[in-house]
Amino acid sequence: MAGIDYTERIPNNVSLHENRRLQRALEDWQPKFLEWWQDMGPNGYQAKEVYLRTAISVDAQGWAHFGYVRMPEYRWGIFLAEPEQGRQVNFGDHKGQPAWQEVPGEYRGTLRRLIVTQGDTEPASVEQQRHLGRTCPSLYDLRNLFQVNVEEGRHLWAMVYLLDAHFGRDGREESEALLQRRSGDADKPRILGAFNEKTPDWLSFFMFCFFTDRDGKYQLASLAESGFDPLSQTCRFMLTEEAHHMFVGEAGIMRIVQRACELMREHKTDDLRKHGGIDLRTMQRYLNFHCSVSLDLFGSEISTNAANFYTAGLKGRFEETKKQDDHLLKEATYGVAELDGDRIVMREEPALVSLNERLRDDYVADCARGVARWNEVIRKHGIDFELKLPHRAFHRAIGSFAEARVAPDGRVISQAEWDAKHHEWLPTEEDKAYIQSLMVPVTEPGKFANWIAPPARGINGQPVDFEYVRLA
Ligand SMILES: [Fe+2]
Ligand SMILES: [Fe+2]
Repeated sequence: MAGIDYTERIPNNVSLHENRRLQRALEDWQPKFLEWWQDMGPNGYQAKEVYLRTAISVDAQGWAHFGYVRMPEYRWGIFLAEPEQGRQVNFGDHKGQPAWQEVPGEYRGTLRRLIVTQGDTEPASVEQQRHLGRTCPSLYDLRNLFQVNVEEGRHLWAMVYLLDAHFGRDGREESEALLQRRSGDADKPRILGAFNEKTPDWLSFFMFCFFTDRDGKYQLASLAESGFDPLSQTCRFMLTEEAHHMFVGEAGIMRIVQRACELMREHKTDDLRKHGGIDLRTMQRYLNFHCSVSLDLFGSEISTNAANFYTAGLKGRFEETKKQDDHLLKEATYGVAELDGDRIVMREEPALVSLNERLRDDYVADCARGVARWNEVIRKHGIDFELKLPHRAFHRAIGSFAEARVAPDGRVISQAEWDAKHHEWLPTEEDKAYIQSLMVPVTEPGKFANWIAPPARGINGQPVDFEYVRLA
């Protein structure tokens, strides 16, 4: 099971050749995917050799092979984590039943929607990032961007496999539609808001990988708990790939912070624009933006949909099986932040309808650990500045805070105060123009743009000045 068959047209570890109907459906979809990749994937680098990792097994040890690949020749395929023997539905009304190998008829529509919504984010992020290659701060970063892109493409394959294998004709139609929507397109947008935002520069890219890919981690982790076993196995392997995307984001921001600190000390000023750096206040505004749009991805604080997904055994909590409770949550309550006039208060709500908020809490705690690591860099430079996560009610478009005006410190404020101050809290046109002015490509091996420090080490034991992308 762990080994992946690369002799097949579609690499897989699901014995695809034994299911002719499914194999035909996927082989029919493959050229459409490649067409989409050529049209909407990385712009301008399709013929270049990139030092990429490819999955060769789903074992925890040594699943990856590294080598030069042209992106359109990347071996996208279908990889599921090892099945867990005797796995059961671990929560909700069906708790204790054997995990489902087929979609339960009553949950068909719901499950399809969950898979499509997750699947839609994967090509969306590739579309959002397609122009970044032209302004890469180094070959090392260019390679990381492309690694993220090909893996998001593979995540699309993962969801399309589930749709084609388990949802018949409807599933095939959804697979096609996943290639037809376009990020930011007014007529056929991607499903979720954050995936229609632009990723116009590398600061935004790193913030996206840190905040928005991390939403992906939490969604995948709760789908990995699903009673529908193929979804669980698929998501478990996707999580191993997702970890690298969050590394790219966290390490990227850390290197920008590092460079900002170096420039601040060298020039004894925190105004780094004269010196071609990105000052920490600008970073804070980008952080506020990306954090708030990613918080929206978790949905409304109080959600009967979330309760239904759970009760049906389709989508669990983060680390569901590690929790010590009844896994039914019918009587339990959960503390939820809510707007009460001009204050934000905590209220106990029924736990089942509060599951989005609980997942958001897990996410915020994870984000906070990353921010603390960035602040450690600032502290080590002896600089008195702290990056902070904005309050969860800040700049929200979904849920109970969508109508409120809230400052990053959590104060509910008037529209007048918001109008006067929001330019201190969110990226301004001037910020965006400045960041854009820094986006000049650096493509000599081992060289880095002035606004970002080199990484501590290269990829897969290679030196930092390795030729990660062969441009010649
Ligand atoms: Fe993904
Ligand atoms: Fe990702």
